[in-house]
Amino acid sequence: MIRLFRATHFRCLESAELSLAPAFNLIIGPNASGKTSLLEALAYLGRGKSFRGAGTQNLVQHGHQQFVLFGQVDGAGRTRNIGVRNGPAGLEVRVDGDSDGGAAALAQVLPLQVIDPEVHNLVAGGPDQRRRFLDWVAFHVEHEHLFVWRQFKRALKQRNAALRSRASAGTMRSWNAEFVELSQRLDESRRRSLDVALESLQDFGIRLLGTELAFEYQQGWSKEKSLDRALEEGLGRDLQLGVTQHGPHRADVKVSYDERQARKLVSRGQQKLLASAMILAATETAQTALERPLLLLLDDPAAELDTDSLDRLMSAVSGLGSQVIATSLDAEALSVPSGAAVFHVEHGVLSTVQAAVKRPGNTAC
Ligand SMILES: Nc1ncnc2c1ncn2[C@@H]1O[C@H](COP(=O)(O)OP(=O)(O)OP(=O)(O)O)[C@@H](O)[C@H]1O
Ligand SMILES: [Mg+2]
Repeated sequence: MIRLFRATHFRCLESAELSLAPAFNLIIGPNASGKTSLLEALAYLGRGKSFRGAGTQNLVQHGHQQFVLFGQVDGAGRTRNIGVRNGPAGLEVRVDGDSDGGAAALAQVLPLQVIDPEVHNLVAGGPDQRRRFLDWVAFHVEHEHLFVWRQFKRALKQRNAALRSRASAGTMRSWNAEFVELSQRLDESRRRSLDVALESLQDFGIRLLGTELAFEYQQGWSKEKSLDRALEEGLGRDLQLGVTQHGPHRADVKVSYDERQARKLVSRGQQKLLASAMILAATETAQTALERPLLLLLDDPAAELDTDSLDRLMSAVSGLGSQVIATSLDAEALSVPSGAAVFHVEHGVLSTVQAAVKRPGNTAC
């Protein structure tokens, strides 16, 4: 769990420090006060990127050159210090003083998930989000996934470059063997991971939506063909477009709800619950694999949800045993469990309303 967090010159946060409770933390404040910015900074520390898809120039506080983030994370009997800096020199990552690891090293120390008002895009948006979701589960349950995924990405890039340079059909075929081998390893790793997560996915589906969810992995090429054959038959078109049309980079997870395809039929509130069920299931699956609680960031969980739905979401969240940091416009919208830390933020300035840990809590931004 992350027990201390500092952000300097990140969005509207001049200099913010949080002493976090191990279970539940609530950040309250009016619109544009900096609540989402705080969660975005925390997520950046665990991922090396923004969950709002923002580039560095939008994240650095106006009038400054770079932002700096720091966290102390307890786990497996020791405390790790992680830091991130981004600015004109690019992304710099430090884990216990070591700068070799990059964003993957951050994710190992501070694995986290986010439920924000855009979470419905996980079911309503394009397949890339669901691929990322499944790969995130796989990174945590399959030891080789990150390695295979990186190798596959490299092979895909090389194959696409060869297509664009109008390589001959013979040269293209010579690329296929490695591409197919890595595709199959990636595909199998994803299938196994979805299998491992399935029970949790169904369980959270019932708890949040009261109905069975169905998940079908779509591999990225026709079920009736081997990838070899799909590549052979698609070679002409691949050469025409300069892009590989078949492979695990085109995979998807089809999510159905009451026998309807979730991305087309459910309401926005239902889509949020469905996507949240997926995120909570992924979190539970990773927690079981890693044997430790993860960080769960909930940005304005009340948005789009009626009281009953919000209660179901929050009770499913509290049953997970994760470290939770939630934001809300006011303290009344969410019930705050005992032992929680409550922070107030206004114009990017944080103050502690209720400290779970005895520390001086006021921080001027
Ligand atoms: N790079 C930046 N430098 C300075 N201020 C910024 C920067 N980027 C965004 N802001 C400002 O930060 C403020 C806080 O935004 P944030 O999205 O964190 O608010 P919020 O508390 O989550 O609001 P809401 O309740 O509407 O979701 C906004 O006024 C925004 O304009
Ligand atoms: Mg916000």
